Amino acid sequence: MTLPDIAPPLLRWYEQNKRTLPFRTVSTPYRVWVSEIMLQQTRVSAALPYFERFMAELPTVADLAACDPERLHKLWEGLGYYSRVRNLQKAARACVEQYDGQLPGYFEELKRLPGVGEYTAGAIGSIAFGLPVTAVDGNVFRVMTRLTADSSDVTSPETKKRITALVQDLQPEDRPGDFNQAMMDLGATVCLPNGVPKCGSCPLSALCESRRLGSMTEFPVRPPKKPRKKEDKTVLILFSENKTALHKRGNTGVLKNLWEFPNAEGALTEKEAEIWCAEKGMKLLRTERLPSYQHVFTHVEWKLSCYGVWVSGQPEEFLWLDLEGLEQRAVP
Ligand code: ADE
Repeated sequence: MTLPDIAPPLLRWYEQNKRTLPFRTVSTPYRVWVSEIMLQQTRVSAALPYFERFMAELPTVADLAACDPERLHKLWEGLGYYSRVRNLQKAARACVEQYDGQLPGYFEELKRLPGVGEYTAGAIGSIAFGLPVTAVDGNVFRVMTRLTADSSDVTSPETKKRITALVQDLQPEDRPGDFNQAMMDLGATVCLPNGVPKCGSCPLSALCESRRLGSMTEFPVRPPKKPRKKEDKTVLILFSENKTALHKRGNTGVLKNLWEFPNAEGALTEKEAEIWCAEKGMKLLRTERLPSYQHVFTHVEWKLSCYGVWVSGQPEEFLWLDLEGLEQRAVP
């Protein structure tokens, strides 16, 4: 297939329409790296306040490497996917030990850092170091499959490899970072998902095969999704003499090693919740049903029944904290 030369119109469009973002205004390797890790699972608008605060508190790789893990979790609290921040610190420590507190300026070495895969190494390499490497995320796959009306399964490794190679061919050697970010911005602001691309504002619309065919919204093609596993749980907010209880999660599975309110498997009735507390040695004073809520992870969905339970006694299997202590803990 001969590909249209998209770089010139795309870069012209980028000059006029690029989003002003703090990691673009000052794009040191450290800032680009932290922003890319935050943006792996989080929208730009949601990540920005976290990014600014993170940079203010931990302005260098060495500060990140030396940060107390509890405080670090606190800085990440609310962003979710906490393994990202644990890997970030591991990688910062590796940079201090092996690269004198800097990020390495080579694609293969970047990829060896914990939490840095093909995409993130490409983004850091191209944006911060000017390396001629791609950074192909979901936005870019959408742009490319629409541009070429490519109906192969976009989740398959072969398709990803093929499209990545196409993007590599299209990338101009002198502006790899701008090109990659222009593709990301085009996907995020113009070539939108869910049936609403703004083809009228697209610098590539005259070159776009699916636009010519009128089939933009049919791309990218994915196999049907498996339904998420649903789990019922009961959360108990225990109150004992101005303190409340936290429990530390085990070291596997979602939210591993994080603090949480005590909870039990299944949707317990008020009576069952009280029995649960009594079996742990607490004396019951009063129980109140609280609003239920739902939390959706990538592969599992929790439906949480909640009770406030006032008790006497503070069993040692929990950590009992007053309000101030609670505020200092990162509770996802
Ligand atoms: N998403 C991830 N990285 C990005 C970047 N550098 N610019 C815009 N969107 C992004």
